[in-house]
Amino acid sequence: MKITLSVIKADVGGYPGHSGMHPELMEVARRELGKAKKEGKIIDFSVLHCGDDLELIMTHSGFIDDPQIHKLAWDTFVAGTAVAKKLKLYGAGQDLLKDTFSGNVKGMGPGSAEVCFEERKSEPVLIFMADKTEPGAWNLPLYKMFADPFNTAGLVIDAACHKGYTFEVQDVREHKKVRFTCPAESYDMLALIGQVGRYVIKSVVRNSDGEIAAVTSTDRLNLLAGRYVGKDDPVMIIRAQSGFPAVGEILEPFAFPHLVAGWMRGSHHGPLMPVGFEQATPSRFDGPPRVMCAAFQLNNGLLEGPTDMLKDVSFDEARHEANVVANYMRRHGPFEPHRLGADDMEYTTLPEVLEKLKGRFEKL
Ligand code: F6R
Ligand code: MG
Ligand code: MG
Repeated sequence: MKITLSVIKADVGGYPGHSGMHPELMEVARRELGKAKKEGKIIDFSVLHCGDDLELIMTHSGFIDDPQIHKLAWDTFVAGTAVAKKLKLYGAGQDLLKDTFSGNVKGMGPGSAEVCFEERKSEPVLIFMADKTEPGAWNLPLYKMFADPFNTAGLVIDAACHKGYTFEVQDVREHKKVRFTCPAESYDMLALIGQVGRYVIKSVVRNSDGEIAAVTSTDRLNLLAGRYVGKDDPVMIIRAQSGFPAVGEILEPFAFPHLVAGWMRGSHHGPLMPVGFEQATPSRFDGPPRVMCAAFQLNNGLLEGPTDMLKDVSFDEARHEANVVANYMRRHGPFEPHRLGADDMEYTTLPEVLEKLKGRFEKL
């Protein structure tokens, strides 16, 4: 049975500020998707939030970029915006950049990751959602999952993984893409994907049979809108087990709270803290950036789950380390490398300050 799994997300209002989600917004999303399920438009759904982002997880028998599914997500965000406005939530409708829907949410503000596959005899899928960061935050963990044998034992000892994986990398500035077959081309790939603000892993396929293994959202909201409208908090979908990395190999990279761009005003580096659903409300200096993971077993398209995977005590130490790193980074205040470089900041008064000082600079 061919299934499409669509994760479409948007920030249509925060509570309070940019930190979390009002329960009424979740309710309205569940009501809208519940209606669509009854009408047979989707097979199943789950509604979650990561920080101020409303996450719509849907299974259906349509295709990727299916206008009917994208319209459903858009209409749900519009209904959420109405509630956010009624409750005077913060930044109501902030990610809905257009007034009318035109076939696809791409370029309209919301982020999406979608995957279509023949459901296996047993199909575990993991959905990662992050807040206060950007899609390049997935580069390091994806590399570890699918190309680093020190993380994924299966690359060495499971015949089904041994031929490696191919990564599609997008240049989000120039709107170009390139494929790397790993492990053979892993050094070339690392040369690019280490530059996380520009080169972003879009998908991963298995070399032995071309099966899709992972897909991410790569919508760069700030670039799309041409001005700052909110960080493009990313999502990704990963298929697990039987020739893909095991659930535990997929989660293992998050035991290292690596530094990502985002945090306060989308303009600071900070550690990506793995958290359970209940802890996904970034509050210290609007952060530190959070990642959570919802796992499901697909059952003919029905979503058995979610299980809250990063809540586990085995990630306590990573949370502690993230807090230690957050303290260390915060002590830099407005200095780099805590503050992002001038080109990557979402907020900056630099042009105004330079303009004001124009006449005061003297030749050295
Ligand atoms: C970062 C984020 C927040 C806001 C900050 C200021 O992605 O959402 O850190 O940038 O709270 O928000 P405004 O400008 O709306 O007061
Ligand atoms: Mg917000
Ligand atoms: Mg957000």
